[in-house]
Order: sequence, then structure tokens, then C-alpha cells
Amino acid sequence: MRLLKIFPAVFLTVACCGQPDVPAYLDENRPLDERVEDALSRMTREEKVAILHAQSKFSSPGVPRLGIPELWTTDGPHGIRPEVFWDEWDQAGWTNDSCTAFPALTCLAASWDRELSALYGKSIGEEARYREKDVLLGPGVNIYRTPYNGRNFEYMGEDPYLAGEMCVPYIQEVQKNGVATCLKHYCLNNQECNRHIADVSLDDRALYEIYLPAFKKGVQEGGSWSVMAAYNLYKGQHLCHNQYLLDDVLKGEWGFDGAVVSDWGGAHDSDQAAAYGLDLEFGTWTDGLASKGKSYDSYHLAQPLLERIKEGKVTDAQLDAKAARVLKLIFRTAMKSGKPFGSLNSPEHLEAARKIGAEGIVLLKNDPAASGVKVFPVELDQVKKILVVGENALKMMTVGGGSSSLKVQHEVSPMEGLLAAVGDRAEVVYERGYVGDPSGSYNGVTSGQDLSESRSEDQLIDDAVRAAADADVVLFFGGLNKSGGQDCEGCDRNNYSLPYEQDRLIEALVAANPRTAVCLVSGNAVAMPWVDAVPAILQCWYCGSQAGNSIADVIFGKVNPSGKLPFTFPVQISDSPAHNLGVYTCGAKVDYKEGIYVGYRWFEHKDIKPLFAFGHGLSYTEFEYSDFVCDRKLCQNGSLHLALKVTNTGDREGKEVVQIYVGEENPVLERPEKELKAFAKVSLAPGESKTVKFEIPASELAYFNPDSHSWVLDPDHEFKVYFAAASDDVRGSPPFTPS
Ligand code: BGC
Repeated sequence: MRLLKIFPAVFLTVACCGQPDVPAYLDENRPLDERVEDALSRMTREEKVAILHAQSKFSSPGVPRLGIPELWTTDGPHGIRPEVFWDEWDQAGWTNDSCTAFPALTCLAASWDRELSALYGKSIGEEARYREKDVLLGPGVNIYRTPYNGRNFEYMGEDPYLAGEMCVPYIQEVQKNGVATCLKHYCLNNQECNRHIADVSLDDRALYEIYLPAFKKGVQEGGSWSVMAAYNLYKGQHLCHNQYLLDDVLKGEWGFDGAVVSDWGGAHDSDQAAAYGLDLEFGTWTDGLASKGKSYDSYHLAQPLLERIKEGKVTDAQLDAKAARVLKLIFRTAMKSGKPFGSLNSPEHLEAARKIGAEGIVLLKNDPAASGVKVFPVELDQVKKILVVGENALKMMTVGGGSSSLKVQHEVSPMEGLLAAVGDRAEVVYERGYVGDPSGSYNGVTSGQDLSESRSEDQLIDDAVRAAADADVVLFFGGLNKSGGQDCEGCDRNNYSLPYEQDRLIEALVAANPRTAVCLVSGNAVAMPWVDAVPAILQCWYCGSQAGNSIADVIFGKVNPSGKLPFTFPVQISDSPAHNLGVYTCGAKVDYKEGIYVGYRWFEHKDIKPLFAFGHGLSYTEFEYSDFVCDRKLCQNGSLHLALKVTNTGDREGKEVVQIYVGEENPVLERPEKELKAFAKVSLAPGESKTVKFEIPASELAYFNPDSHSWVLDPDHEFKVYFAAASDDVRGSPPFTPS
């Protein structure tokens, strides 16, 4: 099958040698549209229909007669999924398909570092290429609407600007490998509960200002060659064949020229699939080629489409429009010559994973413990005995969680990372503390870990507390895991608390030893009833293959933490907008009544103090912000020109994420008090200062007016600019210098 892919290159060579009759579709020097048109002119109707749907779980057939190759897709978004059987979800048991697991996208977003997003895209793109995949099913940019969403860990947080900015370099770098990204899940798939039947309603402002911008940026600036339509419905139509969001918005308003791919099993209606934006159908439940009525031929974009064309209900032009987009996708990827060969599990990829992990980890709290000394960084010359407690110090997190589950050669657990960093400089002891989910398998990939435990819950706590008493420092590793009902595809969490009695354990540990730090492994916010008692808290996310090394780098100060939260941590779930308004529901109708007030926009609007605010994250050094400039004279083209000085006033090198929020004074339509409009990550040596400049284009400052269905700036608009270290930590908000 794969051999077909070299045919075009062979033809091309002939063309260069002067053969005049090389088909135009094989000539990569010609414009894409010309090649597509030529290919279409040579294809039969049946061949056109064939390329619009799957031939296996993850591939579509191409046009064998013309040497147009198959298209192979893969999950995504944190690593390249292990090979599965032709018609099944189960891994095929290959021995050459373990990948590098990169940190979850929440962690990447928490780095607020566009260069790291590029490094991520480059690295995962190379792995996809080595595994001969043409389409990577990711990244995901669905907005974090509720801490209950089981898939938040696969996304980039609650803010459309942050998610949009962070997805662009990922997309661009992946695609440099001749591998398409498939930006997902477009759109309004903000919960897992009832994702196939949830019909979302929301006002146009919320749609355009909150839920669409990251997709728009991914398509227009990132240039993603494909987009995955989501499972849920909008205005009564499934997203996979949603006339408004696919045809009018994505392909119409945004000019998207790539292919719309269905989420697996997301297409439900042959008439709508034929008529509206879906181009490439996958996963419509089938058991393969055998059973009647369930074969790939029965897909909505297969026989049912052919029949509709024959009956005159669908035109050949409609078929051509879909086939053209799929051909374009094939030409850009599978059929592109001269692609790099890629690489798998290279030291560079492992190093990239480690670096991204360490730069995304967020230091939430670091107060002095009772001894007067801060817990982090743990200074190895000052501790003799380190107690590590908790299942998440050992548990492999790359297996599980749904379609993003991976197979790695080796995952460095937090415990392993800590042991490697400590060496023989201190004693490291371990206590289990709680039992979460000792199992570890997904679609035939097993973690191979024996996490069985026979002690009772009380006994586990007693043993951990006893061990804590004489430790110099206690590092508790807990949080969530990738089991159903936690950070996992297919269902949501049903409460905001830490599971498995972890709160009781943490309280007992900190009572026994005040030098206790909580290290949370999760992709979601959790309640922290013990927040005041615990001196140090680290948000460790899911960091992939190198998790333990990334975490140890931060704990022992090899890396100074610089991650900042990409979403708000509410104190309690009822503080969170959808829950406060009682509109987080698992029913067939989901009403986003909170409108544009999502995440920090809500907390500020309602004056609710969060547990940890969007943008919050501490460092082992301190940064001072000064010399703010908001200069009107520079604003002639309507954009804002801003500058400030950031100084590292501590004694360690560090990185600071400077955040610029903007609010409009007296807006015509109500607007959030402030919204993120720019950010920059700055690296500073001790004592060093840098001037950071921003130019915010007027288009970023507009709001969506539902009446005129357009982005507008109020006449005589006045903005207020906030130079901030977090959404709740504004360091300066000077007036504009008069023009
Ligand atoms: C998920 C997608 C994934 C696809 C293929 C679906 O269940 O929603 O994100 O890419 O499966 O595995």
C-alpha cells in the first residue's frame, strides 16, 4: 500500500526529463487548484465518493488507479497513537510503534511560550512523519468552560486569545513535515457528558468572542489543512454536518480551504452529510468490511451519497467540492514529494518533552513553612530524608484517558525522576498513602505496573503519617488520573473534589509535618480545602514520557518555574459560571447562559475570588514591573503601542510571563472588565531588566456586535490597559499619554 506513495515522484522525474504528457495532477510545480481540477477530470464518480470516507479505522483509500495514495490519520494530540487493527480500536501489537509522549496541551498552554509550541509541533510532526502518518488529529482548542469536562487536559485553557496564539506555532511546525494537523473539535464540544446528543445553545457574542477565535486563528494564521468537526449539535444539527458552522462560518466567513473531517462516528444523517460541510467521514460505526449494512460502503458519504446523486438529489458539483478538498489534503501530505523522513523517540524529542513539561509546571503557592523556610526549591544540601507519598508518584499516565492514550518505551514517573535527581545526596522513601486506580490499560496497551495494595485506607494514612514525622520534607503526589470520570474522554467528572480520600490524607500529612508540599498531577482544577494549611503547591499536569524529570527539574530548582495557569481554579464548583447558573447539564440541551463570561471574565464580573486565578504562577525569583508606556501618539493606525520594563529583582535566573489585559471604558454593549490581548515570556538573569514592547492591532480590540453580525469598535472608544503578572495581579494601569 505504502509503495503507491512513490509513484507520483516517479512520474515527476519523467516529466523533468521532457515527457510532455505527464498528468497535471502529478506536477507539484502547478497550483494546487489546477492539480485538483485535473485529478477530478480523470476520476469516476465512484472514485470521488470513495475518497470521502474511511476504508479502515484511521485511513481513507486514495485512488489506486491514478496512483493517488491512501491518507493515514492518527491521534494526537500528545503523541502518535499506537497502530491499531484495520477495523478495531485495539492496538495491533506492533513492536515498533512506541512514541515520545509530549506533555498534555494544558501544560503546553501553561508555558505561555510560543517557541515551545513550535518545538512541540516540530517534534510531534517528526514522529508522525516517521510513522508515515499524513494527518495528526490535533491540536484541540475547545474552551475550558467547566472543571467537570473530562477532556480539558487535551485543550489549551479558558481564554480564546491564549489558546489561539498557542495553537498556531504547533500547527505550522507539524505541517512543515508534510503532515496535516486536524484542529479539533470544531466546536462547542466543551463537555464529554452526552457529547453525541448535547445540543448547545448560546448567544452569538459568546460564540464569536469565546468559542470560535482559537479555531479561526488555527485556520487562518496556523493554516491548518484540516479541521475535525465535533460530536455535539448546534441549532439542532450535528457539528459534522452543521450548515451554519461548517459552510457559513468555517468555509465561508473564514475562507478555510482544507478538508472537514468528521469526529469518529460523528456523522449521523446521509442527507445532511451530503448537503453540508463534511468532506471526509470516519468512524461511523462499522465492524469492517463484512457485515451487511455496517460496511464502509454504508457510510453516509459512501453508497447513500452515490444513490442521492443518481436520484438527482445531490449534484456532481457538490460531490466535486468535497472531493476537491480531500484531494487537496492528499496532495499537501501523502502525495507531497521531498518530505523530511522524520524521527521517532530521538534524544531531541525526549529533551523537548522534558523542557516543555518543566516550563509548563505551575508553582501555585510557595509560602514559608513553619520553619520559616520555603519548601521549594528543595535544597539537597539541607535535607537528609525526603518522604514521597501518593499513587501518582508512581502511576503511568500516558496510558488511558481515551483516544489520546499512548504507548511509550518508557515513562519517567515522578518517583523515578526524583530518585535520579537526588542520587545519593539524600534518602528518599515512599509511602502509598491512598489507592486510586491500580489498573492501567487502554485498548490493549498495558502499563505493566503492579500497583496492587492490600492495606486499608486508614492503615495507608497511618503509615504515611508515621513516615512523615521524621522526614525533612514531604512531597505528596496526588490529583486525578486518566480513569473514567476523571481526566478522561467519554464522560465528565461528577464532582470537584480530589478522589480517593486524598483531602483527608493531605490534612493528616501536613499536621504531622508542616513541611509538606502538594504536587498535583491533573489536567483540571480541583478543590483544595487544605489550601491554607499546606505551604507549597505545584501543578504538574500530565507531562508525558519525561514527566518525572520535568517535575524533578522544578522541585530541585534546576529549572525555575515559569508556568502560569491557562484556566481559573474556583474555590468551589458553584463559583464556576456554568455551575453557578445551574446550566452545566448532562441533558440533550445545554444552554451556555453565562454567555461571554467564561473563566476569569466571570470571576471578575461577579467579583468572586478564585482559589488561583487565570495567569497565576510563581517563580523562585521576583519580578518588578515599571516604566509603563501607553502612547497615544503611536496609535495612529488604531493599534495600541505599549511598553514596560521588567526587572528580575531576585538572585536566580528566571522567566516571567507578562500579560496585557485590555478593557473598554463605558462600552456601548457590556464587555468584560478586562480581556487578555497580548503576552510575552521574558528570560532575565538576576538583576537584569528588559523593555518589552507590544503592539495590539485594533482588530483584537473589537467586540462582536450580534445585530450587525460584525466586529466593531465603538466610536470614541477608550481603553484601559492592565500590565499584569496574572489576571488578578495587575502591576500597572497607567492612563494613555495625551496625543
Ligand atoms: C475523539 C477524537 C479522536 C478520534 C479518533 C474520537 O473519539 O473524539 O478526538 O481523534 O476519536 O480516535
